Amino acid sequence: MAELLAGFGCFTHAVVRAVPRSLATQALRSGNLEVDPLKVQQEQEDYVSVLRQRLGLEVIELPADETLPDCVFVEDAAVVCENTALITRPGAKSRRGETEAMKRALTELDLNIVEMTDETATLDGGDVLFTGREFFVGLSKRTNQKGAEILADTFKDYAVSTVPVQQGLHLKSCCTMAGPDLIAIGSSEAAQKALKIMQQMSDHKYDKLTLPDDLAANCIYMNLPNKGHVLLHCTPEEFPESAKVFEKLKDHMLIPVSNQEKGKVDGALTCCSVLINKKSKI
Ligand code: GLY
Repeated sequence: MAELLAGFGCFTHAVVRAVPRSLATQALRSGNLEVDPLKVQQEQEDYVSVLRQRLGLEVIELPADETLPDCVFVEDAAVVCENTALITRPGAKSRRGETEAMKRALTELDLNIVEMTDETATLDGGDVLFTGREFFVGLSKRTNQKGAEILADTFKDYAVSTVPVQQGLHLKSCCTMAGPDLIAIGSSEAAQKALKIMQQMSDHKYDKLTLPDDLAANCIYMNLPNKGHVLLHCTPEEFPESAKVFEKLKDHMLIPVSNQEKGKVDGALTCCSVLINKKSKI
């Protein structure tokens, strides 16, 4: 059985990107809710402040690019595990240019860079769930089988299984890790089906934290020196019933973080950072 990565959830650095003004009108979205440009800026500032001030991570903030309306959603541009960074080939053509700045930032952090250059492959980081033991890759409108194969070739130490994404933008639109071996999962039929597939694929028995709202199951788990288990999760204003589920967790430092405006363009909490553990720092 695959061992849990020592230091799962330990992070020292985060790469984020400023919100372009073009996000409000041009970012890709499945709905048609109006985005308030000032609120979305504030939301991102608060998010970055949690990472930098509250949690003490070293935050590298890339400048916004007005020609890349979705560029704040950095998670889709790279998958980092230990010292290796896979620079992805995002599924949406309008987002492919986002990887350049990410590659530069991760190169400066001295990570081993692997680039997904195959023109038949697509992969968004939002479809990649790393449990600390293995990867699950959502096959979605954005990520295809070839993308999942290249991820498997890149991170050879880990098993990689694919999961069809039947609802929502990405696999992590309804599930993330909420702790070591603890999968946060939404309640919709599609989310529960995805969980069932992951359970069938794995030789490990994960615990689960079921949230009434799929989007609330996108949370960020960290294990930080002097802080222990930390969980960034939805606010009670956005998802009151799901927030109550998080509030029952006794072993985590709980930090509600608003995602209301970014949620209108299908962004979630994990979308807005690439987290890195530069081991020499801890
Ligand atoms: N707006 C996020 C995406 O569609 O990729």
